[in-house]
Amino acid sequence: MIQELRIGVIGTSQRGKLADHAHKPGQGSRVVAGADTKPAALNEFRKKYPDAFTTTDWRELAGRDDIDAVFILTPDFLHEEMAVALLQAGKSIYLEKPMALSTEGCDNILRAAVANNVKIFVGHNMRYMSVILKMKELIDSGVIGEVKTAWCRHFVGCGGDFYYQDWHADRSKVHSLLLQKGAHDLDVLHWLCGGYATRVNGMGNLTVYNQIDDRHDDAPNREYNIFRGTYPPAAQTQLNPTIDVEDLSLVQMQLDNGVLCTYQQCHYTPDYWRNYTVIGTKGRIENCGDDPNNGGAVVRLWNKHVRYNRDGDVSYTIPKQTGSHGGADPVIVAEFVAYVRGDIERTATNPIAARMAVAAGCAATESLRSDSRCIQVPPLDKSIIDYFG
Ligand SMILES: NC(=O)c1ccc[n+]([C@@H]2O[C@H](COP(=O)([O-])OP(=O)(O)OC[C@H]3O[C@@H](n4cnc5c(N)ncnc54)[C@H](O)[C@@H]3O)[C@@H](O)[C@H]2O)c1
Repeated sequence: MIQELRIGVIGTSQRGKLADHAHKPGQGSRVVAGADTKPAALNEFRKKYPDAFTTTDWRELAGRDDIDAVFILTPDFLHEEMAVALLQAGKSIYLEKPMALSTEGCDNILRAAVANNVKIFVGHNMRYMSVILKMKELIDSGVIGEVKTAWCRHFVGCGGDFYYQDWHADRSKVHSLLLQKGAHDLDVLHWLCGGYATRVNGMGNLTVYNQIDDRHDDAPNREYNIFRGTYPPAAQTQLNPTIDVEDLSLVQMQLDNGVLCTYQQCHYTPDYWRNYTVIGTKGRIENCGDDPNNGGAVVRLWNKHVRYNRDGDVSYTIPKQTGSHGGADPVIVAEFVAYVRGDIERTATNPIAARMAVAAGCAATESLRSDSRCIQVPPLDKSIIDYFG
């Protein structure tokens, strides 16, 4: 049993705040180091953690004996290289989603974890959101019978602000927004339906943001990822010089248990939330709103054979939560710390599921960038499945 888990953080701004939940000196875990290429981000980090080691070279964290675990909270295209190097150095990792930019990249990370017998945890925090947990609980209770299909509509109201101002807009940095944004939803669909995609097809296009000529000069220290509330999308300015990721994607998936799923993602809706519906042999559930702290959230169940009941036959209002992402962030970090410390053996998220979400997203992207043909999702090595149980 680890007395006090010593934690390093790579990528200390923006998502870097996640690691603050792990800083509990005297209570089992402490942030002891930070790495970021931006001096301003490191300055802010030092204000919070004056005793921490800081560096602009993340590799220094891999080489230090006084670090047990590392949060990798950097842009997607850095995940694979950083994860593999840290696992090889024997560090447990919390890796933000999407796990990597390719299925092969995920498999390289999994193999490094297996070869070095080190713990890996991927930050699929939607599995800790109370709306999703309520839907999972209802499905597991059997109230909608055997699940046959699930549909997710993702209204990305902040698309122009969050995904077309910086590296997110560039295929070489994200591969596709079906990974960057969609990995969450593909994972939730897999989880709610109890299977993984085997066959996938998609249609998608860049329909709005490519028509905006106002681009910035890619100044490295610009602050992106800020919700400016610009609407309609044609009013966006100062977008990324490279824009080649689809802003509209429609995906169909067949899972290994026969369940059929759809996923739709649009990056220029006026509203910003996800809507899931899951249909079984005895009923249907659907969420309206996905963040109890922001606009409210309710899960409705229909299981009576009537024409239409607006409020559902039963309605579950999700209470407000403390913490970002609908209260999920403090909970997922607590579980990561407990897992690496050895206090718990199993977690709600798991690296195989994270790989399968990327694999489904890659297959959908391949399909929509060709002629929308069905693509087989590459299976995972049995030895890796067995290792992670
Ligand atoms: N799970 C969630 O809810 C959620 C939410 C937001 C972002 N994310 C994920 O978090 C990750 C980071 O996203 P972000 O929006 O914070 O990105 P970002 O572009 O703001 O970068 C995060 C930090 O990483 C630093 N960085 C970049 N290159 C680096 C390098 N080579 N070495 C060290 N530091 C480096 C940046 O300077 C920045 O401070 C992404 O993978 C994203 O998908 C997850």
